[in-house]
Amino acid sequence: MALFGLFNTQKKEAANLGGNLLVDIHSHLLPGIDDGAPTMDHTIGMLRKFEELGYQKLIMTPHIMSGVYDNTSEIIVQKLEEVRKVSHDLGLKLQLEASAEYYFDETLFDRIRRKDLLPFAGNHILFEFSFRNQPSQVEDIVFSLKSAGYQPVLAHFERYLYFHPSIEIARSLRERGCYIQVNLNSFTGHYGADVKNQAIRLLKAGLIDILGSDCHRIQHLELLQSSLKDSVFHQLMTLKVKNREFF
Ligand SMILES: [Fe+2]
Repeated sequence: MALFGLFNTQKKEAANLGGNLLVDIHSHLLPGIDDGAPTMDHTIGMLRKFEELGYQKLIMTPHIMSGVYDNTSEIIVQKLEEVRKVSHDLGLKLQLEASAEYYFDETLFDRIRRKDLLPFAGNHILFEFSFRNQPSQVEDIVFSLKSAGYQPVLAHFERYLYFHPSIEIARSLRERGCYIQVNLNSFTGHYGADVKNQAIRLLKAGLIDILGSDCHRIQHLELLQSSLKDSVFHQLMTLKVKNREFF
């Protein structure tokens, strides 16, 4: 009876893991176009690891940052096709899609006006702020995206140290219709104790809309794998987030 109970618990945990780790919407796996996977071999190694973790779909999001990563929608789609072909030839089952992680600077407003964006799930746009300087037009960019018919998704809110320890901006952005994405590895302490604490604040306050791996290299996935038994991950796995909706 005790054994049966244990089996049931394990089965239930596995099902829950599958829930929020089914679809990832933030990663840097397309080879050679940003600071993520440098080569196709690295890409394939990470894809295999994602499959091992139970993921079924990845929306890959290379950086687009003016003057640093001048990726275009065409470059990204071409890379996606290359990765899809290799992945298919190797018998991998992951569904692969691509979008981008847009760096917020003055060029983003113009890009929105020109609709020069590569959304995921129809109209979702992942965007990020500088890690160093607090942006001054936080509400404006959300308004601008919403007005143009896009669904803004702010990448890794917990990693912007200039907002710490407040989470009020996350609350206010959500009220304006922006989704808040948090990195899974923030809960492992990978980005430091302050980022971990901020992620936990967001979790406790119910301000997390989407979880993401923000995977740049295989070590990110190995760390995630080794942390899945931590108690905070049990909470994360049952958290009502939107990841499943992107399947
Ligand atoms: Fe990222």
